Amino acid sequence: MNEAKELAQADAGFAKPRLPIGPVMPDAKADAAMGPMIFSAWYVIAKSTDVGDTLTPIRVLGEPLVHYRKADGTPVVLDDRCAHRRYPLSRGRRVGDTIECGYHGFTYENSGKCIWAPGAPADASLNFGVRAYPCAERGPWLWVWMGPPEQADPQQIPMPDVLDRPDDTVCGYKLNPCNYLMLIENLLDLSHLHFVHDAADRDSVSVVPEEAPAPPNGVAWRKVVEEAEVLLAAHFAGGDPKRRVRQEDGTTQFGPSLCFGYQRRDPLPDDDTPVVPALIQIAHAVTPLDERQTHQFFMTVISDPLVVEPAQMLHLLQEIVFEQDVEVVAQVQANVDADRRQGRTEVNMPYDRFGLRMRRILADMKAREIDYAASSHPGNRI
Ligand code: FES
Ligand SMILES: [Fe+2]
Repeated sequence: MNEAKELAQADAGFAKPRLPIGPVMPDAKADAAMGPMIFSAWYVIAKSTDVGDTLTPIRVLGEPLVHYRKADGTPVVLDDRCAHRRYPLSRGRRVGDTIECGYHGFTYENSGKCIWAPGAPADASLNFGVRAYPCAERGPWLWVWMGPPEQADPQQIPMPDVLDRPDDTVCGYKLNPCNYLMLIENLLDLSHLHFVHDAADRDSVSVVPEEAPAPPNGVAWRKVVEEAEVLLAAHFAGGDPKRRVRQEDGTTQFGPSLCFGYQRRDPLPDDDTPVVPALIQIAHAVTPLDERQTHQFFMTVISDPLVVEPAQMLHLLQEIVFEQDVEVVAQVQANVDADRRQGRTEVNMPYDRFGLRMRRILADMKAREIDYAASSHPGNRI
């Protein structure tokens, strides 16, 4: 069957549900389930403590990067592609603060400039190099800017203030086999906490979040559940998972690259025993590896002393809770990729309005990025 006919058949059949399917958000677009690659944003590429002498590769927005730390402690991020034959610089070696390519020895200083090549005339000035990316450390992480360098402003790094409790903080990492927008939507629609993680009761996920003040290029929500079970969070601080408490949740998404959430718990009005943990904060740094893979660097901190080993809390989050999300988003990506129906292919509910708004914000960011490149840097590849 030819493709046009196949599509027409699908359209005539399954793509038109016979049952009413709920309110449709005006800005819902089937083709926007995948977010564009946005270069003009700060992204996390490593935990600071993992940036050191070693030349460490990471792919971001489809581009190979390498990071390391100079002897004076300054982090460096370079294109991980030798200017000569594109051998990864991360497979070369450090010579002082410079990198010597492991193939033919071209040597680069941390500005990216090539300063030596075998056989080059001694008086030759080598007027080439690899791209060096602006980078800065904020919170527990190293951040990189891959947009036009003249627009890089470390003041714009979207690292929120978090509790300063190093002993009650864990940092971890997941690789999500999906477009980054699917991870953002996963983090913004926490009704899945009940169904995927068993970490919220069914009544509390029926309470729809309300708008909260949002940052530029972002969205934010807040919700209060007057009576809910503590569940999962209790394990970290020695509380009773079945205890009923008042719970406030909030989430803020900053552009494509950071999702910050908190849960605050208070005793019910007739109860004067403090709830532990009273507050949990989680920051998820969302960094596209490419169109269909997303790095997720996360940090979690609680307001009360951990009663489990940090390694145990990390294991629970990284290998159980966020692994459950990975399995879900991988399935969603597979179905999005395979979906050949025409027209509207997703139903939206009030929970989805934050994710839908992010789709539009990200599309606008991409459009501005393209305009900027066209107007100020003709010939740039964005
Ligand atoms: S590829 Fe790096 S020196 Fe030849
Ligand atoms: Fe989740």
